[in-house]
Amino acid sequence: MSNPTPATPYGTLPAASPLPARNPVSLPRLNELRERGEKITMLTAYDATFAAVADAAGVECILVGDSLGMVCQGLASTAGVTLETMAYHVESVARGLRRVQGTAWLLGDLPFGAYHESKEQAMRSAAQLVHAGAHMIKLEGGGWTADTVRFLVERGIPVCAHLGLTPQTVHALGGYRVQGRDDQAALTLKRHALELQDAGATMLVLEMVPAALATEITQQLPRCHTIGIGAGKGTAGQVLVMHDMLGVNLGKNPKFVRNFMDGAGSVRDAMANYVRAVKDGAFPEDAVHAW
Ligand code: KIV
Repeated sequence: MSNPTPATPYGTLPAASPLPARNPVSLPRLNELRERGEKITMLTAYDATFAAVADAAGVECILVGDSLGMVCQGLASTAGVTLETMAYHVESVARGLRRVQGTAWLLGDLPFGAYHESKEQAMRSAAQLVHAGAHMIKLEGGGWTADTVRFLVERGIPVCAHLGLTPQTVHALGGYRVQGRDDQAALTLKRHALELQDAGATMLVLEMVPAALATEITQQLPRCHTIGIGAGKGTAGQVLVMHDMLGVNLGKNPKFVRNFMDGAGSVRDAMANYVRAVKDGAFPEDAVHAW
């Protein structure tokens, strides 16, 4: 009998069927997870194959982060990533997910300079990522970004905000350091988070924020799901950069990362272990991965 799926070079993306049909992840579905206290899982991916593997491993949200500037392009920071590069990777990931009938919620990161001039510029940039296949766009910063978030949300684009360590402005922050440590900085962070929820942001990445502060912000934001990275276990979900959690960071992993390839037989197993660990509350451990 002939094999119905012929071997092909350069990787194969067979359709996910006859895998059991899964419902696409949507905002109502993410709300449901939150309501029943189930953690939301997110990983970054930058190409069709890894996105398909993450989807098959049960990762609910895939972020095409501008971290691709560092892990794919070899840049020193994310600040040099362009909108065209982001659109190319979002399109590749969206195509990969479509080929496998993937169900993940797809976020595209607006890069530095693509939303800073005006709300109209932000809309044009966001539309480019939506045309490429993103369901939601992400942008960094608080305060001035609230008006931009409202403008995009009113025009039908779901928005994920990003507070704490915002890598696009790492030079202004003085390095990759924990944010919101003193009382004044914590108050500002809380205020920005509330403003972003009021503006309509339905997700908020909290990066390198003390665990207690991230938990407090999470409790104050019923309509905006906090996704932590180096922010402890009290957030509504977790995200990691794929290369970090697969142990292919050629430098030293930050303390908030666990290498999920340890003891895993495959990349898919590693990602599935990540999903399980986040859902079970086994990752992150506040005493190990947080401040
Ligand atoms: O660009 C990215 O990958 C990110 C994550 C670190 C959240 O913003």
